Amino acid sequence: TDGVLIDRYGRVARDLRVSLTDKCNLRCTYCMPAEGLPWLAGPQLLTDDEIVRLIRVAVHRLGVTEVRFTGGEPLIRPGLVGIVSAVAELEPRPRISLTTNGLGLARLGPALRAAGLDRVNVSLDTLDRARFTELTRRDRLDDVLAGLAGAAAAGLTPVKVNAVLMRGVNDDEAPALLRFALAHGYELRFIEQMPLDAQHGWDRATMVTAEEILAALRAEFDLSEDPTERGAAPAETWLVDGGPARVGVIGSVTRPFCGDCDRTRLTADGQVRACLFATEESDLRGALRAGADDVELARRWRSAMWGKRAGHGIDDPTFLQPARPMSAIGG
Ligand code: GTP
Ligand code: 5AD
Ligand code: SF4
Repeated sequence: TDGVLIDRYGRVARDLRVSLTDKCNLRCTYCMPAEGLPWLAGPQLLTDDEIVRLIRVAVHRLGVTEVRFTGGEPLIRPGLVGIVSAVAELEPRPRISLTTNGLGLARLGPALRAAGLDRVNVSLDTLDRARFTELTRRDRLDDVLAGLAGAAAAGLTPVKVNAVLMRGVNDDEAPALLRFALAHGYELRFIEQMPLDAQHGWDRATMVTAEEILAALRAEFDLSEDPTERGAAPAETWLVDGGPARVGVIGSVTRPFCGDCDRTRLTADGQVRACLFATEESDLRGALRAGADDVELARRWRSAMWGKRAGHGIDDPTFLQPARPMSAIGG
């Protein structure tokens, strides 16, 4: 290799998150407005071949061992199955996962599994149909539930479920979501909402905290220490009623894990981001299209990561939300 993606604080990025599109077929109120966003234009997007080339550089030259596809909604990218199979052929083969809203997963699951996808994380914030429709502005709860079942049936396991709780919207649903996950064998994680929405409507005071989520769960379940090692995982996990089932909380805001972060990110338009909250990006697409070779692309990627900040800085008085919303960064 040409070295690893190490930053000035000694963190090494082995986990690459690749956003395949900034578009989505849902409109979650905490993510984007009803009318959508000004999407990236066709020529701005990396082609399938460009994506595979950059992932190859990361795996062959920079020590990346995990590749996660995100969006927007990655399942709406036409070339997804081909991209997954090309990445699965790399040596050494990285582990490959996908974060999705689940729409279309029932249909695509088997082909993705055959192409080499290892597992999926599916977003599901409510089990109530009317609430789901209000929250995502689309009446598609049944499709998500079918997507979850299809993923499990296709062997894309462990299937994880991500839930964001919002005060006055679905903050009473933590135990119900956990009962659902336990009944189906999915691993549920609750996520603290972060200031990454396109509308800049995030409010620390109304955010449902990890502590509140745990208190709500403990009213119905016994949560005990999970002996498995956390590593750089964003979720803190507990055994439910003695295990083996687990539940996780991703407390990005009140319990930040930036010190252990092992992530690097590539946006759908070919920019490297050292952090979800980075305010600077490094343009690999421009370099690639200007004819840079793999050694040069690796050099630029390393240099982008060296500048990674120590933490997200949400608590700093000078904190500024990044210009790109979550849907254009990749969750
Ligand atoms: P696994 O635990 O490996 O399954 O993946 P993951 O939890 O990292 O991936 P997923 O895409 O499901 O992310 C879940 C949530 O974790 C995201 O919605 C974010 O809220 C949070 N998250 C992911 N990456 C980061 C990160 O780099 N920083 C912070 N603060 N939060 C992150
Ligand atoms: N804060 C936390 N999580 C968010 N997600 C989307 N926007 C935010 C936010 N502002 C979640 C989605 C999905 C995951 C990829 O990120 O619900 O589960
Ligand atoms: Fe789509 Fe995810 Fe944003 Fe919901 S949170 S609109 S599923 S990108």
